Amino acid sequence: MKYLDSIVIGGGLAGLRAAIALNQRNIKVGVISKVHPLRSHSIEAQGGINASLGNHIRGGHDDWKKHAFDTIKGSDYLADQKSAAKLTQSAVECIVEMEHWGCPFSRTEDGKIAQRPFGGAGFPRTCFASDKTGHVLLHTLFEQIVKFEHGSERQQMQSFDEWFVTSVVIDDGCCQGVIAMNVVTGELEEFKSDAVIFATGGVGRIYGRTTNALINSGRGMSMPFWAGVPLKDMEFIQFHPTTLYGTNVLMTEGCRGEGGFLLNNKGERFLAFYDDSKKAMEIAPRDIVSRNIQKEIHAGRGFEDAYVHLDLRHLGEKKIMERLPGIRVLGLNFAGVDPIYELVPIQPGQHYAMGGIDTNINAETRVIGLYAAGECACVSVHGANRLGGNSLLETLIYGKIAGESAADYITAGGPPKKDEGIMKDALKRDEDKINKFLRSSGKEKHSEIKMDLNNIMDDKVGIFREKKSLEKALEGVRELKDRFKNIKILNRERRLNQELINIMELEGNLDIAEVIVMGALAREESRGSQSRTDFPKRDDENWLKHTLAYYTPDGIKTEYTDVDVSMYEPKERKY
Ligand code: FUM
Repeated sequence: MKYLDSIVIGGGLAGLRAAIALNQRNIKVGVISKVHPLRSHSIEAQGGINASLGNHIRGGHDDWKKHAFDTIKGSDYLADQKSAAKLTQSAVECIVEMEHWGCPFSRTEDGKIAQRPFGGAGFPRTCFASDKTGHVLLHTLFEQIVKFEHGSERQQMQSFDEWFVTSVVIDDGCCQGVIAMNVVTGELEEFKSDAVIFATGGVGRIYGRTTNALINSGRGMSMPFWAGVPLKDMEFIQFHPTTLYGTNVLMTEGCRGEGGFLLNNKGERFLAFYDDSKKAMEIAPRDIVSRNIQKEIHAGRGFEDAYVHLDLRHLGEKKIMERLPGIRVLGLNFAGVDPIYELVPIQPGQHYAMGGIDTNINAETRVIGLYAAGECACVSVHGANRLGGNSLLETLIYGKIAGESAADYITAGGPPKKDEGIMKDALKRDEDKINKFLRSSGKEKHSEIKMDLNNIMDDKVGIFREKKSLEKALEGVRELKDRFKNIKILNRERRLNQELINIMELEGNLDIAEVIVMGALAREESRGSQSRTDFPKRDDENWLKHTLAYYTPDGIKTEYTDVDVSMYEPKERKY
């Protein structure tokens, strides 16, 4: 059994920032990650991170309240307003901290941190490092981790790379630690710890057309869910407007922030035809732009009934090479087009889950000693639609808050009862389960169930939704859950068994997909990313509320809870 004061699961931005906060309080922390931290999905974030620095020449005066208002309006008023205020109030300090830690942000001519316009923001407030913002932020935090792990200052940090967490151990409403598998040896081990922070990222791979990395399986959401923590607002799935046709690689919103156009098959900037985007055009919020792209395709003004064009040619080579060099390389390598001279085929694709593990403003879940931050969590700052540039910010702000909350709890004594027996029982349970998977000789391949799940989610739980297709989706997901009971495994080795990991992840995918579909079906309104064609209007009277989904032995149960609207009255969204 390993003993640590605290454990962070996930080596992306939220996880590393939480670990740093714990280390700064001299609390021993283990970072468990199924991949090396520098392979975390945070590294793929491109366009930027929001803060009201007011550095842009066209920006004028900016402040956190304007940023908070844009975030709340962008969320279609489902964000908890105090959570959004905390996010935006801390943003400038967070950027300054990252800069002091050496983050190489792009600069204005007079040497300030550069900012670009992003969707739904009243000001150009997205700080960036060309189109590799996640990359530089993650490396900056990783340098701090290396310093803490190997430096002389503090040595409270231990990394467990390529360890896969199999369960979180809870006793009497208190978190006691986790069980994890060393991916290389296949051995399970108990990690006893006073506090555990989930920072495991998103669930995009439930969909087929997604910008998310293969590792974004949502397994980190399913573990607390199975242990009794509710998932909040899972029906709100963000579809990024510009993903590369064919592979759905992200083509950053920065392309449009820098002045790129979206064109239909007549060469028209079609966003001008729609009331909700005719003013903001390419920098309307993502839910609106994605919907209008999809409408254009449905109206036969796309290409091959599947995509429209992103036009960057007028930006010129110099600007593209300076501001969007990665986009050029992606265009060349993944679509065979050079954005300096050619149009880029794009379509909306799954990008982000606004929902996640239910937490309060201190990143605490309902289980004492269990915290969550970043995309796997729902605090909720993004409500029904996230603004671009706010997710990187959330990872850093709420990652830090999670670390500080855990540090307060540990400093105050941690769990009242520190039971080792319960850890051994949990280990045995997980061991038995893994052995059962390794012996399974059913008929169903995990890859086929996964592909069928992807097709259901792409086809029936996409940008536009309606009752009949959602009911079919629910039926389909439940059939897949039945098929999963008859799973087969080909590789029966313990060492480096990716098939075993895929099977364990698929088990979580199926439950989370069920939660998403149930939430989408029950919510009879259109709000933010949820567009019900059969209920086209937002309905504040009946639906200004959060969905909470609970895992129970009798199936998933749903409850609703109030939204904090203490700062701004919900209004019609106009851009
Ligand atoms: O478009 C992008 O660069 C993505 C940014 C985000 O999701 O915040």
